[in-house]
Amino acid sequence: MEVVSKIADLKARVAAFKASGKTVGLVPTMGALHNGHASLVKRSVSENDVTVVSVFVNPTQFNDKNDLANYPRTFEADRDLLAGLGATLMFAPTADEVYPEPDTRSFSYPPTDTVMEGAFRPGHFNGVCQIVSKLFAFVEPDRSYFGEKDFQQIAVIRAMAAEHFPSLTICPCPIVREDDGLALSSRNTLLTPAERQIAPAIFKALSRSIAFSKQHSVAETKQSVIDEINSVDGLEVQYYEIVDAIALRSVTDWNEAEHIQGCITVFCGHTPIRLIDNINYK
Ligand code: PAF
Repeated sequence: MEVVSKIADLKARVAAFKASGKTVGLVPTMGALHNGHASLVKRSVSENDVTVVSVFVNPTQFNDKNDLANYPRTFEADRDLLAGLGATLMFAPTADEVYPEPDTRSFSYPPTDTVMEGAFRPGHFNGVCQIVSKLFAFVEPDRSYFGEKDFQQIAVIRAMAAEHFPSLTICPCPIVREDDGLALSSRNTLLTPAERQIAPAIFKALSRSIAFSKQHSVAETKQSVIDEINSVDGLEVQYYEIVDAIALRSVTDWNEAEHIQGCITVFCGHTPIRLIDNINYK
C-alpha cells in the first residue's frame, strides 16, 4: 500500500489505475480506525480493483473546537491496519493541502441536513459535504463506502452525490458492534472505564424497543427509549427521533413510511462524550 499526502499524487495514481481499466472504491475516514472502518475497507477491496482510503480529520465539520482538538489521531496504527486489509492507497493530506483557501461552498438538502444532528451541530453536514465532495472530485470513484452508524450522514451524502456525482454508487455498510452491543466509534476510545461500562445501555434500550413498538405507538416507543436510557446514571439523551429512513422526517404512526429508523444521540459521562446510534423498526 502506498501512502500519499498530495492531491496531485493521489490523482496521478488513480488516473494510472483507471487507464488500465481498474475500478476504484473510496472509503473516506477521519482515522482512528476500528473494525467498523475495517468492514468498509474489506467490502471495497472485495468489490473494486483498487481501494483508496482517505484519513483526514476534517476541520470544517467540527462545530466545537475542543471536539476537533480531542479527536483521536493514530496515523501509524491506521496505516498498518489499512496495509493489512489490502487497501491500495492511503490518502493522508494536511488541512492546508485540502483547504489552500477557505471553502465557502454551501450545501443544503433539507430536511436530511436540518433535523437531528443538523439541528444540534449547525454547519456539521455542510463541512461533511465540503470534504466528501472534494474527495469524490479528487478520486472520481465508482463506489464509496460509509458506515450506517452515521445514518443521517449517509442520507445527506446520498443527496449531495445525486446532485453532483450522479454516476457514483453510495454503499451503506451495517453498524459493527462490540460484544456488549456498543456501536464501534473512534470516540469510544475517549470513554473512561466507568463510562465504557454504561454506554451499552444505549443499544440495549434501542433493541428492547423493537418488541415494545409492536404493541405501542411511536410516541410511547420514543418515550420508553428516552426514559430507559436517562434512568442510567451518567447517560443523558440529547434526542431520540423516530423517522422515515429516506427523508428523515419524524413519523407519528408506524404505517406512515415504508422504512422507519430510530436515531439517537446520548451524552455519556462528565466530559461528556457524545455517542450516536440507530436502529431499524421496519
Ligand atoms: O464519517 C466520517 O468519519 C466523516 O464524517 C467523513 C465521512 C470521513 C468526512 O470527514
